[in-house]
Amino acid sequence: MYMYQGHIHCSHRLLHLTFTRPLAFSSTHPSELLVLPISMQRLAYSPAIRALSSSSSLRTASSLQRFVAAAPLQATTTRLLPSRRPSSRSFTTTPTIMSSTVAGGANALLDLIKNRRSHYALNKDLTISPERVQEIVKEALQHVPSSFNSQSNRVVVLFGAEHDKFWDITTEVLKGMVPEDKWEATAGRMAMFKGGAGTILFFEDVTVVEGMQAKFALYADRFPVWATQSTGMLQHTLWVALEAEGLGANLQHYNPIVDAKVADEWKLPATWKLNAQLVFGGKSAEAGEKAFGPIEEKLKVFGA
Ligand SMILES: Cc1cc2nc3c(=O)[nH]c(=O)nc-3n(C[C@H](O)[C@H](O)[C@H](O)COP(=O)(O)O)c2cc1C
Repeated sequence: MYMYQGHIHCSHRLLHLTFTRPLAFSSTHPSELLVLPISMQRLAYSPAIRALSSSSSLRTASSLQRFVAAAPLQATTTRLLPSRRPSSRSFTTTPTIMSSTVAGGANALLDLIKNRRSHYALNKDLTISPERVQEIVKEALQHVPSSFNSQSNRVVVLFGAEHDKFWDITTEVLKGMVPEDKWEATAGRMAMFKGGAGTILFFEDVTVVEGMQAKFALYADRFPVWATQSTGMLQHTLWVALEAEGLGANLQHYNPIVDAKVADEWKLPATWKLNAQLVFGGKSAEAGEKAFGPIEEKLKVFGA
């Protein structure tokens, strides 16, 4: 068990927290300090913070959140390694900045990935600002990889009335396609999605894909596949990120039936091909149970 007391320097690839007020807490692994998730909500669930909550005067999530909210935040992109093992049980620490690997450094990311679920019961209570959502989208859109760094991903974010409009358009299109006896279920689903606070539309720019095909003829048949893989990476990143900020989301695919109307409504380039829609909002209910097949059937490892 490590004991920390004094000023704590926590870091994350995207966020650097500098707590200038003294605090004390215990942790079984010092690297937990370095991988605290960004949002207050997630902070409350971090093992290090849980330990902190129970071992210091910050005994409740809300007092912890007040404490963290009052702490000065400072953005940085540095990676930090675990602080050195303390020589005494009580000390002031600042972790060492290094560029080598960190065993356990992926755990916070894996926790965020495990925490992401399909949330269908959503409401319009956007618990973070639209600006914050946009910030997350921008970061993900810029940093998620694409083949040959072709940057084929395009995104439209719809909030409020614009989100409602998307689901009205989808409802109208489906009304002309779904048999009368099936309409009630479809209408219920549309109302459910419209009940969310926003929708992220994921596109790929076909001119980028075609440009890559022309430039690298050898891989011509691969570029559309790689563009789809890249949008999948972006979708997952944003899904995980929104959940990490306390929102719920679910992924839908009403393309291609709505593509023309969407392009017309939001004056989008005809070359933007719609791939998916991520509906997001406040969570009205927890996600349902999820079953997992045996990992042994999914993974083979050699040479370890
Ligand atoms: C590529 C992909 C396509 C999906 N398409 C839909 C969809 O069209 N409609 C839907 O309700 N859920 C869709 N989902 C959500 C999955 O059904 C869901 O992720 C899966 O059942 C696991 O549940 P979880 O998201 O709660 O972990 C899709 C998920 C993926 C990864």
